[in-house]
Formats: sequence, C-alpha cells, structure tokens
Amino acid sequence: MQGMFITGTDTGVGKTLVTALIARSLAQDGLDVGAYKPLQSGHPLGHPDGDVMRLRRIGGITDAPEQMCFRALEEPLAPGLALARAGVSVTRDALLDHLAAYSARHANMLIEGAGGLCVPLTEDLTVADLACTVRLPVVIVARSGLGTVNHTALTVHYARSRGLSVAGVIVSGMPHDEDCLEWANIPMIEEAAKCPVLAVLPLFAPETGSVEQTLALDRQWRPSEFLSGKHMFVMKE
Ligand SMILES: Nc1ncnc2c1ncn2[C@@H]1O[C@H](COP(=O)(O)OP(=O)(O)OP(=O)(O)O)[C@@H](O)[C@H]1O
Ligand SMILES: [Mg+2]
Repeated sequence: MQGMFITGTDTGVGKTLVTALIARSLAQDGLDVGAYKPLQSGHPLGHPDGDVMRLRRIGGITDAPEQMCFRALEEPLAPGLALARAGVSVTRDALLDHLAAYSARHANMLIEGAGGLCVPLTEDLTVADLACTVRLPVVIVARSGLGTVNHTALTVHYARSRGLSVAGVIVSGMPHDEDCLEWANIPMIEEAAKCPVLAVLPLFAPETGSVEQTLALDRQWRPSEFLSGKHMFVMKE
C-alpha cells in the first residue's frame, strides 16, 4: 500500500481537515487517492459533520461512505469503547479485510486514525497497531498553541518506538498574526521531536469558508512529491 497514515497528538486537532486537504492536493497533481476512516464515532455514517462525509466533501472523494469506513458509532467516544458500549464486536481481521478491499481500488491511500496513536480502535487493535500493520509513513497533526511541543514530541517518539516511519508534523490552526509566539513552537517541535514540520495551516474560517482558504496546504507542501520520494518541502514562516 502506498500513501500516508494521518494521526494526531489528540482528538480534534485537525486530522480530518489535513487528510482531506492532502487528498485534494494529490488529486490536483493527478494522483488517484482514497481516504479511509476505520471507525467513525459521534455521527452516523452519512452525517455531514462526520469525518467520512467531511473527507468526501473537502477532499473531493467520491467513493461510497460504506467503502471508506468499516462502521460508524453513535457515541462520541474512543471507537473501542463506543463499540463495547454498543455491544458490537469488530475483529481486527474483519477491519483489515474491509480496508484491503477499499485500498485495492486506489493507487494511494490516506488513512485517518481516531484520536491519537494509543487509542483503541477495537478490542485488539489500537491506532498504532493499525499504522504498523499497513506500514504507511505517519503524518502527525498537532495544535499550534501551548502544550503542543510536549504532545508532539511524545507522539513522534512513541511512533518511532513502534517502528513507524514518521514523515513529519503538520501544525493546524496557527493564528494569523505573524508575530504571535505560537510560531516559536515550530522550531521547538523540530528540535524536540527531531522531525520536520511539513506544513503549518492557518486558523481558517469555518470549513464552509472559501475553497481558496482551504487550498493553503497546496502552496506549502507537496504531498505528491513526498509520495514519489522526491523531497519534503519544509515550510517555514
Ligand atoms: N486550521 C484550522 N482552522 C480552523 N478550524 C480548524 C483547523 N483545524 C481544525 N479545525 C477545526 O477543528 C475541528 C476539529 O478538526 P478535525 O475534525 O479535523 O479534527 P480531528 O483531529 O480529525 O478530530 P477526530 O479525533 O474527532 O477525528 C473541526 O471543526 C475543524 O474544522
Ligand atoms: Mg477526524
């Protein structure tokens, strides 16, 4: 499988937005791409605010939601817990078979985890376990503000301790003020985590805002060049 595994330092840090923007950028560069959310919690599969529909809408993916996600769960909890509370049993193999069927349709796959790397997806599979199984380079999405250096460095170090290849970090939600102190976190992340910050996304207007705004990623980092092994563009201020 070729592609990227997108995880984050936490839930709500911008993984879906980043995954969708990478999908869009790859498609614009002429690459065939699919996006997968193994288990979605908090919204039914077809809900417009759920990750799968956002990946389709913002990422321009046209595949059926049922192909892009094994199962959606109502409660906004870690998938492993939401599954248990719903009395649903999902085996690792069933999930991997579903992913394999979908990934066979695309030359490049983006897989979005849930929460961070240690989150249980099923009884016997964490997000990190899945990343290890699919063997894709990992992109870590992080917040821009206070606390992010520690969260990001811990996530990168844990990923490496599991043998994962960390492509880099994407920081989401940088305030527009160029002099703001949050910019100081970028070199601190690179130093503490010993990995590049690939892109910094500004704090966008709500996702319903202009497409122009959501294309900012394209100007900063070329995911297609990363996938083709050419180079990584390290975006600085
Ligand atoms: N750069 C940004 N500018 C503005 N809003 C953002 C930005 N990044 C993320 N958000 C918003 O923050 C919220 C959480 O983002 P998102 O759903 O992408 O996070 P997530 O990491 O995928 O969460 P989950 O763990 O639930 O999958 C969303 O409403 C999203 O639009
Ligand atoms: Mg998400």
